[in-house]
Amino acid sequence: MKLRFLTFSLISALVALPMLRAQEDGPKKMGPKEPKTELGEQMEKMGGAYKKLGKQITDATKNEDSLKLVATIKTAATAALKFEPIKKKDLPAADQAKFVADYQAKLKEFIATVDKLDAALKANDNATAAKLVDEMKALSKEDHKAFEKQKEKKKA
Ligand code: HEM
Repeated sequence: MKLRFLTFSLISALVALPMLRAQEDGPKKMGPKEPKTELGEQMEKMGGAYKKLGKQITDATKNEDSLKLVATIKTAATAALKFEPIKKKDLPAADQAKFVADYQAKLKEFIATVDKLDAALKANDNATAAKLVDEMKALSKEDHKAFEKQKEKKKA
């Protein structure tokens, strides 16, 4: 009797498990713009703050809020130093260490620009601040080209 119950429980569990898994996977796949990696998560945080910053960078009355956005970007960029781009896995083993070192060096360069932006805003120098925001954009474009895994092949 006990054995039958145990067998029944075991079979029920085996049937239910994949269903539960499917439920767990469901919302993740459906969710809007779910970051795929821990690094992606930090990037999304930078993205939100950067977008708002770009709209108000020339407005000196918003400098207090802009400084908060800059702090968010710096925190996320510093956290991003701990992670490695997913693209690393696509490279030959011999190239991987250099790739990660280059990524970290470029990210530090980016963080240095963020620090300059912080100083410009604290000095209420919005003209310089706006130039630095443009610089950050250029750096991120360059760095995504080098370190982000390309979603589709450029050449047909
Ligand atoms: C204004 C600055 C930046 C913004 C707004 C930004 C934003 C983003 C966004 C929205 C993504 C997609 C995230 C996802 O997968 O969901 C991304 C991915 C990525 N970004 Fe940035 N980014 C910036 C600067 C940088 C810099 C400076 C680097 C490197 C030095 C970098 C390296 C990467 C990499 C490697 C990925 C792919 C994620 C992965 O491999 O896991 N980004 N970024």
